Amino acid sequence: MNVLSTKANSTVVKANFSPRNMDFAFTPAALPRYYADNNPLLTAIMTTLSAAIPEGERFFVESVRHFRDRVSDPVLKKEISAFIGQEAFHAREHDAFNRALLQNGVSMERHERIFAIPINLMRRMPQKFQLAATAALEHYTAIIAEQLLRSPDMREKLAPISRAFWEWHALEETEHKAVAFDVYETVSGSYSLRAGTMLLISAVYWPLVLSMSFKMVIDDGRIFNVREVLKGLNIALGRKGFFSTLAPKYLDYLKPGFHPNDHNTDALLAEWRERLFGSQGLLAGNVK
Ligand SMILES: [Fe+2]
Ligand SMILES: [Fe+2]
Repeated sequence: MNVLSTKANSTVVKANFSPRNMDFAFTPAALPRYYADNNPLLTAIMTTLSAAIPEGERFFVESVRHFRDRVSDPVLKKEISAFIGQEAFHAREHDAFNRALLQNGVSMERHERIFAIPINLMRRMPQKFQLAATAALEHYTAIIAEQLLRSPDMREKLAPISRAFWEWHALEETEHKAVAFDVYETVSGSYSLRAGTMLLISAVYWPLVLSMSFKMVIDDGRIFNVREVLKGLNIALGRKGFFSTLAPKYLDYLKPGFHPNDHNTDALLAEWRERLFGSQGLLAGNVK
């Protein structure tokens, strides 16, 4: 949060993050078929997550917008605007990423159709449930994003164009990780709804992501390559796996007094803003 004084009689309130209008210009030729460690299962898991993102993040924006007028804190109001801008650009660039994968023969349309079912179901639920679902899913994205930014081993497994793309998304998810949560606390604050919704979301989300990822590997005819399937499974969900080691941070969300900023990412954000968008930033030239 940031409050800037301008003139003697006025102040300008600003969020301390803002949307970056990126253009990754994805082309099918530049995106390897198995862009994650040349591994069909690891790639399928990331691709499945990407398939959910455009419609999922449009849902996040809608669910926060429902309550925008109920927020009076001027800093949170600015953060809502910045959050909406960031998620809109994420949805657009993931759409472009997904279209490039589709042209490479990946079954993105089926994945997107399947994810649209639970998302549209949530749209028919009470608006406070929708906001609680968004806060829960934003916790997932925040802890996955932080893990990616802290894991050079995992980042190095990604082909360069996809690596930069996921790093940008991870940085911005970390920047706005508390926005939906703070709106939820402002307009509801019910612990039982927050925790219950997280448990419900978790019971649907992971079985869906994993079953769809395996379906993708089966369709590719790679499921019987046991060695590479086990390798991908171990990287993602093994004892020291990328996702499995997130369990303690996931469980923090279920504590009554939890807040996303309890996971301190200030130094991480400063490092990654410089790495990607500083004067020598890797992506400074990709901002429109
Ligand atoms: Fe996002
Ligand atoms: Fe987000």
